[in-house]
Amino acid sequence: MAVQCAALHTYFDYSLLRRLAPFNSAPLRSGHAQDCVLRLRLRYAQPALSMTDQNTSPFPIPYSIVLLFSCSVVQLFHCSIVTIFRYTLTTPFLKPVNSFNKTDLQIEPIERAFTIPSAWYTDEKVLEIEKEHLFPFCWQYAGPADVLPAAGDHKPVSASGTPCLLVRDNDGALKAFYNVCKHRGGPIATCQGNSKMLKCQYHGWTYRLDGSLRGVPHFRHAELFDKDAFGLTPVELRHWEGMLFLRSEKGPAGLDELLDGITGRISPVRLNDMGFKKRVFYDVKCNWKAYIDNYLEGYHIPHVHPELCDLLSIQDYRTELFPWYSLQYSPLRAKESIYSSGGGEDQAWYYFIFPNMMLNILPGRLQVNLVEPVTASTCRVIFDYYYTNPDAPETDNLLISDMEYSENVQQEDMDICEQVQIGLQSRAYDKGRFSVEMEQGVYHFQKLLKQFFRGDFGNSGT
Ligand code: FES
Ligand SMILES: [Fe+2]
Repeated sequence: MAVQCAALHTYFDYSLLRRLAPFNSAPLRSGHAQDCVLRLRLRYAQPALSMTDQNTSPFPIPYSIVLLFSCSVVQLFHCSIVTIFRYTLTTPFLKPVNSFNKTDLQIEPIERAFTIPSAWYTDEKVLEIEKEHLFPFCWQYAGPADVLPAAGDHKPVSASGTPCLLVRDNDGALKAFYNVCKHRGGPIATCQGNSKMLKCQYHGWTYRLDGSLRGVPHFRHAELFDKDAFGLTPVELRHWEGMLFLRSEKGPAGLDELLDGITGRISPVRLNDMGFKKRVFYDVKCNWKAYIDNYLEGYHIPHVHPELCDLLSIQDYRTELFPWYSLQYSPLRAKESIYSSGGGEDQAWYYFIFPNMMLNILPGRLQVNLVEPVTASTCRVIFDYYYTNPDAPETDNLLISDMEYSENVQQEDMDICEQVQIGLQSRAYDKGRFSVEMEQGVYHFQKLLKQFFRGDFGNSGT
């Protein structure tokens, strides 16, 4: 019945549009209601057209005007219902992002696909969309799990632009909240510390360790003020293999689903056996996606990293794709290489976890990278070093040599990514193509991005 009604009123609407304006020139943007009307038109107009074989309306203009008025009322009512349904029964990530050109969101097989357009790497509006529609719904690595041991320990952390606060509560549980005061948005903590209460740095509102609001100075005369409604907003926090992950909104993949299969694949190596040793970061003058694209292919290794090329067996270099991550791996060729344990059977696994995390698993160590957007044309890359024996004296030497080696490779990658960013910003480039043999990881990443923005993950929120 609803479909019939929609088809009918769209047909009436169409008959009038044919008289008053070309269908394809219907205005695209002037408010949400009109947007909904347009979407309904696009959704239902085609079936309605094929049901009638007529080029002109059977109704005279006066009838059509009356019908337009009544149909518009029906459409607005319909839009309201659709909007209410979307916002109440579904989570926000289900919404397709309408700001993108539809052809840019098309997904083709890798053999025929184009890369995402250069504007996605250069336009601040695209970064705003990513901050609104992507990162809050994706798990973000938040450092090692064995932190903040005592009740009251707390530490501000950023989850790709979302200010968060880790807090050890009185029951010994680690919790996460937005690091945002409910008075006027001040920061609860600006550095790591320990206290019985959390106190906002701006006007001194205090919160218990469970996030509930406790003290509100100089607020005796406020009316209709319910303190219970002003607690800190919680952020989802999970542990995995000795690492912390945060997510501020329900998204399409739970953490177990996101990382499913990794621990089994790398066995008997156990990430949980490795302990955090050191964090360094790099500020890179390129869009965060340009850095990730570069990570996701070994195509550039012979040209950009000749030393790494000697270390890895490039002809055995492989990429495997999984729902939410991809894996690149290669046996280590040089028996006495910096990463070799000397056994001759050493293996390196390079995992990319959508959308911006990497796990570089090497003999006896793990390097975790997180690529955080800063502006459309800059990002910050966090490098966390983990080792099987982080406190052993020999690990200090290992760290020094690993860091020296990583710095070289990192510098080579940063240099090329910064050059690529300049190229992406030039008028000469918009979209490229993929090597089917060498760039499956890049294709997979860009496909997931498109799927996110298309709203393809539907009702699978967990
Ligand atoms: S903003 Fe936190 S007390 Fe005012
Ligand atoms: Fe590289």
